[in-house]
Formats: sequence, C-alpha cells, structure tokens
Amino acid sequence: WYQARSTTREQPLQWLDLMAGCGIRGLRWGLEAASASPLPAQILVNDADGDRRPLLEHNLRPVAAATCSSVSAERLLCEAQLEGRRFDLIDLDAFGHPGALIQPALQALGTDGILVLASTDGRSPTGHDRPGAIRSFGAAARVHPASWELALRQQLGLLARQAWLLGRGIQPLLSFSDGRTFRLAIRLTRQLQFGEESQLGLLARCGTCGAQQRQPLLQLRNWSACHCPSEQGRWAISGPLWLGPLQQVDLLEALMASPLPVAPATRRLLQRLQADPGGLGCVWSTAELARRCGSGPPPLRRLVAALRAEGYQAWPSGVMAGQVRTDADLPELLQVCSTLRLEGPLMDPSTT
Ligand SMILES: C[S@@+](CC[C@H](N)C(=O)[O-])C[C@H]1O[C@@H](n2cnc3c(N)ncnc32)[C@H](O)[C@@H]1O
Repeated sequence: WYQARSTTREQPLQWLDLMAGCGIRGLRWGLEAASASPLPAQILVNDADGDRRPLLEHNLRPVAAATCSSVSAERLLCEAQLEGRRFDLIDLDAFGHPGALIQPALQALGTDGILVLASTDGRSPTGHDRPGAIRSFGAAARVHPASWELALRQQLGLLARQAWLLGRGIQPLLSFSDGRTFRLAIRLTRQLQFGEESQLGLLARCGTCGAQQRQPLLQLRNWSACHCPSEQGRWAISGPLWLGPLQQVDLLEALMASPLPVAPATRRLLQRLQADPGGLGCVWSTAELARRCGSGPPPLRRLVAALRAEGYQAWPSGVMAGQVRTDADLPELLQVCSTLRLEGPLMDPSTT
C-alpha cells in the first residue's frame, strides 16, 4: 500500500510473493494497492508446490494484475536475473532461515525495492545454536535478555553485508518478532548512505555484572572494563550485527494514518514500533534490572520518564515487552531504578 501510494513511476510496480503458500499476501497487496493507486501493480505469486496452484489461482482471482507460477524460488530468481527483470517488492517467507536466497533476491530487486523477509530460525541467532549462527549469519551469537532484538540485528547485519557486496545500501523499514518468527522489511538503496559501514558492529554483555557495550567494527578497540571486580568480568560478544535503527518511523506513521482496515493487534504493534526507532544505546530487561536492584520490576513508563528527566535518551523497546532502550550505563540505570523504588511501589503490571 505504502509503495503503491508513494510511487511516481508511470509503469506498474512489480511485486513478487516468492513462497506464497495459499497466496494470501498477494491477494491482500492487490486489494490494498487498488485503493492506493490508479495503476495496478503487477503481482507474481509463486510457490514451488505445484499442488497449491489451483488454490493460488482461485484465491488470486479478485486481483486482475496477478499471475501465478509454481517454480522453485531459486529458478525464478535466476530467470529474473537472466531476463534483466527487476521487482519493486519481494516477499521471502521460507520455512527456517532464508540464507541462500537472500543474495539472489537482492539481485532481483530494483533500486529502492523493498525486501520483506521472515525467518523461523530462532535458535541460532539467539545464541542457542552457536555453530548454526556461524553457518547462517557468519556471526557469533550469545544468549542475551534482548534475544529477539539480537536475532533481528543478526539478520539485518547479514542483509547489509549481502547488499554491500552489490554496492547497494540498506534502510530498515520495520523489524519485529513474536519470538518464533523474525520479520523484517528493508529498502535496498542505490548506494550506501554516508557512514553506513559504521552500523555493523559487535555487542558485548558481561554475564556476571550485566554490563553492556557496543562497538562498530570500523572503530574496534579493546573493550573497557565492566563493573565487576578486577579480572572477574566475562564479556560474551555477539556479532557482527546491525547497530543502526530497526524502524523507519515516518513509514510507520504513514501506515498508522492509512485508510486501510488494520486489526487491533497490528495497530498496537505499529504503535509500539513507532515509539521506538531502535537505533541507539543498549536494551535492558526490567526483570534483570529488578533482580540487580533487589526489588520488583520498575514500571517501564516511569523508568523511561525518569531516565529522560535525568538527561538520558530512553524508549520502551518496541521489540520485546518489559525492556528499555537507553544510552544510560548500568550504574546510572540501577541508580534511577533505586530512586524509583524509594518513590513508591515498583510493581505495576499495567504499565510494564
Ligand atoms: C512459510 S510458507 C509461506 C507462507 C505464506 N507466505 C503465507 O503468508 O501464508 C513457505 C512456502 O514456501 C514454499 N516453498 C518451500 N520451498 C520453496 C522453494 N524452494 N521455492 C518456492 N517455494 C518454496 C512451500 O511450499 C510453502 O508454501
């Protein structure tokens, strides 16, 4: 809808649902785009499973500009490459991790094309299958309280490196997860934005004191000491992963303001993501802060307000509930939590 509404092109947009299942997405795109632009997007709806073809054809009947195919994604992308065909939107929704298809999908995207990616591999990017993370992401993945966010950042880091190989850049549009599926949308830009390489880096967390630090690979140096007594800290380092923003806030605002019907749960998700651009500082679980403070979890909104009042930047994480994103370091965070505790009872589940 967003792309159909904002395009200035005089030719129809080209959209590809690469692994379409029953074709529900292509159907939705077609219906939504029809209300956004007088020039209907051409939609190719594909699934390798030929047995699904009659269902696909049936479901896509209301979208005149849709065609269906039943070839493997690998072959379809290879043929697009040979024919010089480019898509403005590709949806890649494989079972597991879409790894090997990322590069050909990026190559089949036009400039400013959008790649929508889903991965159901939750184990390797969250540190529960470290050899798997090396294989799938070329990255170290360690267990972390903000595990969903780290998984999304691992995926974005991989996408950035794959796009950079082509001389292109990436701009994350939205990133979210329910803990089982990790979903991203990025725009493939004509070239890298200035300093984009600085968005790839490492994230360290001390398993003992909980301190966190992040470093771009470009400025990599020794890690400073954590807050443990001398020699007792233990950094667990994840990455390379994407350190930059997770969302494009103005796109989320446009989606929120769209006249399209949006389910209440989706609207709540958009609101959460819109309130957290996801680009700065580290993410802390309020449960962990509470444990370290010896108190109940600080109510998230009060914690964010208190951090801002102290001059820090702070947002409730849009990715995982009960987590705060801030540039405050751990001692300051714990200090603010302790002050909140003195001001009144911390347990307030309605505001966490
Ligand atoms: C996770 S489902 C897609 C669900 C769909 N996007 C939806 O929202 O309902 C993955 C689909 O990919 C198809 N598939 C698996 N491997 C494929 C391949 N190599 N090329 C194309 N389709 C493939 C499967 O038949 C399956 O329907």
